[in-house]
Amino acid sequence: MPTAEKPCFAVTGRLPEPALTLLREAGEVAVADTAAPLPREELLAQVAGASAIVCFLYDRVDAELLDAAGPGLRVVANVAVGYDNVDLEAAAARGLVVTNTPGVLDDATADLTMALLLAAARRLGEGERLIRAGRPWAWGMDFMLGRELRGKRLGIVGLGAIGGRVARRARAFGVEIAYANRSAAEPALVAELGAERLSLEELLAAGDFVSLHTPLTAETRGLISAERLALMKPEAILVNTARGPVVDEAALAAALREGTIAAAALDVYEHEPRVHPDLFALENVVLAPHLGSATVETREAMATLAARNALAAVAGAPPPTPVPLPAEAQQGPSARSRLR
Ligand code: DGY
Repeated sequence: MPTAEKPCFAVTGRLPEPALTLLREAGEVAVADTAAPLPREELLAQVAGASAIVCFLYDRVDAELLDAAGPGLRVVANVAVGYDNVDLEAAAARGLVVTNTPGVLDDATADLTMALLLAAARRLGEGERLIRAGRPWAWGMDFMLGRELRGKRLGIVGLGAIGGRVARRARAFGVEIAYANRSAAEPALVAELGAERLSLEELLAAGDFVSLHTPLTAETRGLISAERLALMKPEAILVNTARGPVVDEAALAAALREGTIAAAALDVYEHEPRVHPDLFALENVVLAPHLGSATVETREAMATLAARNALAAVAGAPPPTPVPLPAEAQQGPSARSRLR
C-alpha cells in the first residue's frame, strides 16, 4: 500500500531497467514478471493499491481496473503512443491523469513502415518462403518481379509525427507524397514534402502505396472498408503500422485474393494477436507481429518516458506527455486537488 511519502507503482509487465530504477528511487514498485498480457484477474490484483499504473497497449484499462486500483490511484501511464486501450471517460470521471509516449517511437515505426513497404513491393516474404520450403528456383527475367518505389505516389493517411517521418523516408526513395488528414498537417512539413492534400477517397484512388498512421478512434475504426479498398488501384500496396481495427481485415483478405489491390503489409491486426485466417493462405501479404516500436533504443525510451510521466503525476506536477481527457467527464476542482 502507498504511504503519503512513498507512492506505489504497479507495472503490469517487464520494463527496461532504467525506467524501473527511476520508479524505485521514488517509491515502491511492483512489477509483473511477464512479457505477455496478464490474465484479467491477475491484472486486477496487480494494480490493487497503486498510486500509478504503468501499463501496455494490451491491458484493458476500464472502470473496473481503475476501481480495482482503489482511491489512491493518480495516474495511468501507458507505455505506448496509442491509448485506445484506456477508457478516458472512466479515467476523467475519477480525476485521474492519463499519459502516453509520443515522439520517442516515431523513427522506429517509420523505419518498420518502410521495411514493410519494401518487403511487399519486392515480394521478400514470398521469396523467403520459397527458399525455406526448399522449392526449386533459378534467376529468371520474369522471376518474382516486384515494383519499384521511385516515381510512385505514397498516400499517407494521417500526416502527423510518424506519417511525416515515413513521408521523409519515402521522399529519399524518389516517391511523391499525398496525404489525407482530418485537420491540417504542419505547414512546414507539407512544404518540405511538397505533399498534396486529398480527401481520403481521392487519396485511396491516387496512391500507388497507402500507409495508415491514424490513431484508433470511433471515427477510424473500420475506416479501410471493402468499399474503400475497391477505390484503390489494382497495383496498389496497403501498409498498416497504426492499429489493426482501422482496417476491415476480412475485406482486405478478399481484396488481396481477388486482385482488387496488389499487396499489403501489416504490423497490426483487427483482433490482435489473432490474424484473420484467410491472410495465411495469401502470398501477397507481409505479416509482422506488431514490431513498429520494437527496438532496444525505442523500448527503453518509451519505458523511461512512461516512468517520468508516472513520477510527475504522483508528485502532482504536470507530466511530460499527458493525454487530453474528455472535458465533460472530468471531475471538479475538489477531486482534481488530490493531485496536489
Ligand atoms: C504504440 O506505441 O502505440 C505502438 O503501437 C507500440 O508499438
